[in-house]
Amino acid sequence: MTGNRAVAYKSAGVVEVIDIDYPTFELKDGPGVNPANVGRKVPHGVILKTVTTNICGSDQHMVRGRTTAPSNLVLGHEITGEVVEAGPDVEFIKVGDIVSVPFNISCGRCRNCKERKTGICLNVNPDRPGSAYGYVDMGGWVGGQAEYVLVPYADWNLLKFPDRDQALEKIMDLTMLSDIFPTGFHGAYTAGAGVGTTVYVAGAGPVGLAAAVSAQLLGAAVVIVGDLNPERLAQARSFGCETIDLTKGEPGEQIEQILGVPEVDAGVDAVGFEARGHGKDADHEAPATVLNSLMTITAAGGALGIPGLYVTGDPGAKEKAAQVGSLSIRLGLGWAKSLSFTTGQCPVMKYNRQLMMAILHDKVQIAKAVNAQAISLEDAPRGYAEFDAGAATKYVLNPNGYVKG
Ligand SMILES: NC(=O)c1ccc[n+]([C@@H]2O[C@H](COP(=O)([O-])OP(=O)(O)OC[C@H]3O[C@@H](n4cnc5c(N)ncnc54)[C@H](O)[C@@H]3O)[C@@H](O)[C@H]2O)c1
Ligand SMILES: [Zn+2]
Ligand SMILES: [Zn+2]
Repeated sequence: MTGNRAVAYKSAGVVEVIDIDYPTFELKDGPGVNPANVGRKVPHGVILKTVTTNICGSDQHMVRGRTTAPSNLVLGHEITGEVVEAGPDVEFIKVGDIVSVPFNISCGRCRNCKERKTGICLNVNPDRPGSAYGYVDMGGWVGGQAEYVLVPYADWNLLKFPDRDQALEKIMDLTMLSDIFPTGFHGAYTAGAGVGTTVYVAGAGPVGLAAAVSAQLLGAAVVIVGDLNPERLAQARSFGCETIDLTKGEPGEQIEQILGVPEVDAGVDAVGFEARGHGKDADHEAPATVLNSLMTITAAGGALGIPGLYVTGDPGAKEKAAQVGSLSIRLGLGWAKSLSFTTGQCPVMKYNRQLMMAILHDKVQIAKAVNAQAISLEDAPRGYAEFDAGAATKYVLNPNGYVKG
């Protein structure tokens, strides 16, 4: 038996590295654990020694105090690890395997899992369909920003890397397979990005940059990224994207300067409910901004990929309607243009194996595109603070020293 250090949410703006229990094959009571999940046996699970675990914009919604996350909730849903113990019902995953963990926890046995809709598994979260490690209202599965973590339904959930040495060599790219690379890809793909298309991605955070790289991988003719943060826009230009600065106003005019028309074929929302307004409204939040502007600039018959997160409750929102997740969406415009929408958690398992192959065969440089930087677990509070301040960096925690140099 060994100890376990982990990153925990304390209160709005505060995270701390704390001591927690080493995992066992049972879900124990703790901060944020759904009572109906307490005592749940996990003989189909494995215990991972964490290789890498990334800080995500989705964690920031909790850390900024925009959710009902309780104090001491252990964070972390972007996990890559080495299997150190396997439960008695695990058949194919072995001790010593290096594996990527899809951030969606799914059972592989319910109707939705059978249809590969793993973001809305019916059996892992007593509150509602869909679950994730280290996340408020997601059942209470303990987060992986820790030295060790339990992963249920291991044979089903885990993506095993074919070669250990190669995996550790490319770990800064492969670590993006647990969430942002599949999520960005899902955004671009469901927006209709393909050979010769024009694509606009709202948001130049890690998910937006991953969507932009994905649109390039899918063969887009032009990829345009919009944000209000100059450092993040420069990061998007570093791998061949056009950029637009939304502090200057609505995106249409700047898109016209690039393409000759104020429209694109495909629109991606990689921002979500904490969106800022455009132009003179850039100094405050206006949660419907991205959805409404995407409907304006996406050509009729096009599609919107919406990985950006929207919530059912946002006590911190200014408007009363937004506090229960109601936004002023101009749906009539979307209807008139026959636009399609894809929302929700990315079903990571639909894409992660193919994207792993693209990484292993040097077809894509995801770590470089998102400016991935490894830091120690104890440095996580600094990583959270810098990420929150808008650094053009994807922070990768390195709790057990697997990442060298
Ligand atoms: N669907 C999923 O499965 C899934 C998975 C991971 C992350 N997410 C969500 O994706 C979103 C992005 O994640 P991230 O890690 O890149 O977050 P992030 O907070 O680092 O990035 C968001 C970016 O949006 C910019 N922004 C704000 N208002 C804007 C506007 N009006 N137009 C354009 N840009 C604007 C911000 O300046 C910031 O750079 C978050 O909402 C996150 O929760 C969803
Ligand atoms: Zn994430
Ligand atoms: Zn399921």
